[in-house]
Amino acid sequence: MEKCIELIDKLRKNTELSYDEYLYLIKNRDICKDYLYKNASEVRDNIYGKKVYIRGLIEFTNYCKNNCLYCGIRRDNKNIERYRLTKEEILECANAGYNLGFRTFVLQGGEDLYYTDEMLCEIIKEIKNNHPDVAVTLSIGERSFESYKKLKEAGADRYLLRHETADKSHYEKLHPKEMDFDNRIKCLEELKRLGYQIGAGFMVGSPYQTEENLASELIFLKKLNPHMCGIGPFISHKDTPFKNEESGTAELTLFMLGLIRLTLPNVLLPATTALGTIDPLGREKGIKAGANVLMPNLSPGSVRKKYMLYDNKICTGDEAAECLECLKNRIKTTGCEIEITRGDYKN
Ligand code: 5AD
Ligand code: FES
Repeated sequence: MEKCIELIDKLRKNTELSYDEYLYLIKNRDICKDYLYKNASEVRDNIYGKKVYIRGLIEFTNYCKNNCLYCGIRRDNKNIERYRLTKEEILECANAGYNLGFRTFVLQGGEDLYYTDEMLCEIIKEIKNNHPDVAVTLSIGERSFESYKKLKEAGADRYLLRHETADKSHYEKLHPKEMDFDNRIKCLEELKRLGYQIGAGFMVGSPYQTEENLASELIFLKKLNPHMCGIGPFISHKDTPFKNEESGTAELTLFMLGLIRLTLPNVLLPATTALGTIDPLGREKGIKAGANVLMPNLSPGSVRKKYMLYDNKICTGDEAAECLECLKNRIKTTGCEIEITRGDYKN
């Protein structure tokens, strides 16, 4: 316990921890966790107050040209009904979301070449035109520098691209040969260079992941210094090669959330839907462990069940308005409250 306190206090003074020190904390998480959560939520409060930001997630296509071994919308999954939202449907989602109080929209989809740069730029421009006070976040995978540049010029503010794991050889166990770790990192660097607020992230408890890998994640994140970091437990999906793999746990995810908050005090850190899926109170616990963002679904009810990245995903039947009400009530139990703003990164 003394060593836990010493290391966590060190992080609070913004002193960097070594790989071995992170590993110590992760291995001793049972005894360190309460002290970690207390400190992580204090750090969040000092920077962001007791405010939780909401992002309206618009899952606009479940077509994907990739074949990530863990993901339910991978190309080789013939067991799902594919869908694409039209520009009009996307704009309608954004309008409805705006009226509910959302000031950030996250356009997320599989890597779907149907949507050209021109189409995406038009959609971004129209959202920004209709609602000049919102931020547009993209989460559409690996693209070229030129494409990222056009989308930025059209008005996109932020980009989420989880690195999935900071270890190249682990990356290769989670992805088919044609996907390349170095390209993923290159994409993140290009996005940053173009002036996007960037979001990295990884799954907790993905197949072959070790505690050592998790210690490396923190070293990697410190160096990358992203504005956002999305993490959630790996959850197996029945129609993927990882269908029989064990899912990650809420316990370890929460511990990593706390460590990320202390490592990158200003980071925007979501309590993810995956965390709420593996534990019915996962999102509330995530907020208490230092998270400050929620990303409820704004997609039309008719397509929600079709964007299944993993089994048993929650909130696939609810309407956006119901989800928001539910979340507001849930968040109240943590002592925090939802704030209606763009929720930009605080320096
Ligand atoms: N379990 C948990 N998270 C998953 N993702 C994809 N598949 C799964 C799964 N089976 C995550 C990936 C991706 C994000 C959009 O969803 O980290 O980047
Ligand atoms: Fe979606 Fe509770 S957050 S129903």
